[in-house]
Amino acid sequence: MKVTLIVAALLALSGTAMADQKLAQSKACLSCHQIDKKVVGPAFKDVANKYKGDAKAEEHLLGVIQKGGKGVWGNVPMPPQPGVKPDEAEALVKWVLSL
Ligand code: HEC
Repeated sequence: MKVTLIVAALLALSGTAMADQKLAQSKACLSCHQIDKKVVGPAFKDVANKYKGDAKAEEHLLGVIQKGGKGVWGNVPMPPQPGVKPDEAEALVKWVLSL
């Protein structure tokens, strides 16, 4: 019984992680970002490490997705992502910070 519960919990967890990765893919985030490798933008794992324990991170990163950002990781700016709805942006930020 316990084992079943743990397996179910793990499946649920990996299920949401996959859903958020799919969302990132469908919003073209992954054309500039990868999870563990810098491409045009920083690796999402590096972003998670940078903001670990930063209470303002979520708010800041939501702003970056909606309005764009620059100068944090280098000279290439991140363009605003107008196709991302606020609740999608929130899901993406939570996912990135959880990596
Ligand atoms: C055209 C390329 C491009 C696309 C598309 C893109 N990004 Fe970025 N992103 C960048 C670049 C370049 C940076 C680094 C900006 C900087 O140095 O401040 C960045 C930075 C970030 C950061 C860190 C911001 C910070 O201030 O530390 C996050 C989080 C992020 N992107 C998430 C996303 C998400 C989520 C999407 C999809 C909705 C996305 N990006 C789509 C290029 C892109």
